[in-house]
Amino acid sequence: MGLPELREDTYVRLGGLMQENLGLGFATVKRTVVASRLAPRLQRLGLDSYEAYVTLIATADDGGEFQMAVDLLTTPENHFFRELMHFDLLESELSRVRPQRPRLWSASTSFGDEAYSLAMLLADLQQAGRVGADWLVLGTDTNERRLRSAAEGLYPQAQLRGVTPERLRRYGLGGDPASTGLVQMQAGLRERVRFERHDLRAPLHGAQGFDAIWLRQVLVYFDAATRQTVLAQVLARLHPGGLFFVGTAEQGLVTTPGLDALAPGVFRKQV
Ligand SMILES: C[S@@+](CC[C@H](N)C(=O)[O-])C[C@H]1O[C@@H](n2cnc3c(N)ncnc32)[C@H](O)[C@@H]1O
Repeated sequence: MGLPELREDTYVRLGGLMQENLGLGFATVKRTVVASRLAPRLQRLGLDSYEAYVTLIATADDGGEFQMAVDLLTTPENHFFRELMHFDLLESELSRVRPQRPRLWSASTSFGDEAYSLAMLLADLQQAGRVGADWLVLGTDTNERRLRSAAEGLYPQAQLRGVTPERLRRYGLGGDPASTGLVQMQAGLRERVRFERHDLRAPLHGAQGFDAIWLRQVLVYFDAATRQTVLAQVLARLHPGGLFFVGTAEQGLVTTPGLDALAPGVFRKQV
C-alpha cells in the first residue's frame, strides 16, 4: 500500500491542534515533512489516513499519541557542540569575565546534549582557573521522556562526534560502548547539570539569573505572539551583559528590544 496523502485541510487541522495546545506554529514545517515524519505512526497504528490520525490525537484518551506526534515533529538532529563557534564565543566571554558562580541555562534542552556540552566547557574552564568552582547548568524542557533520558546521560557515539577525544576520555564514562554503542556522561559532570520540567511560556520557577542562556531550535515552532511571550520570559532571567544564543538560522526571530547582536544567533543583553 502506498503512503496516503496528507490533505491540506488535515495539515491545517493538525497545525491548529498544535497551536491550541502548545502555541506551536507550523509555518516552518512543510506538509511533506509532516507527512513523512508521521507516516510510521499510521503504519504502526494500522490507520489508513492522516485524518484518522489527527482525530485520534485530538481525543483526550489518545494513549500518549499526541506527545508522540509532538516529539516526531520537533525532533532535532542532535549532537554535542552543535554550532561550535557559539561555544568558542562563550568560552572567550567566560574567560574574559571570569565569573565565580557561573550559571548557564539550556532552555529547550531536549535530550540534554547541549547542557552537557556546556558543562564540559565549564569544567574545562574551572580546571584552567578561569571560572569559579561553583558552577551549574540548568536544562529544561516540557517533554518528560526526554528529560529522563537527559538525566541518565547516555548517548550513542554518533551524537558525540562533536566532542574531542580528549574531552570524551575525561567526561565520558566508558560503560561498554563496544556492546551497547552508548557512552554515559561521568557522574561528576551529571551532578552539575540539573534537569527540570519547565514550559517556556511561563516564568521560570525560583529567582536565579543566568550568565548565558541557550534557546536553540524551539522559537521556530511558536507562532509570533507565543514567541514574544517566550522571549520576554526567558530574557527576564538573563543578567544584564549576559549572552543569549539561538540557532544561527533563527536570528531573525529575535526582535526583542534591549539586545545587541554580536554574531549570527548570538546577542548580548544591554546593561
Ligand atoms: C528541536 S528541540 C531543541 C533541542 C536543542 N535545543 C537543539 O538545538 O538541538 C525542541 C525542544 O523544545 C521543546 N519544547 C517545545 N515546546 C516547549 C515549551 N512550550 N516549553 C519548553 N520546551 C518546549 C520540545 O520538547 C523539544 O525537546
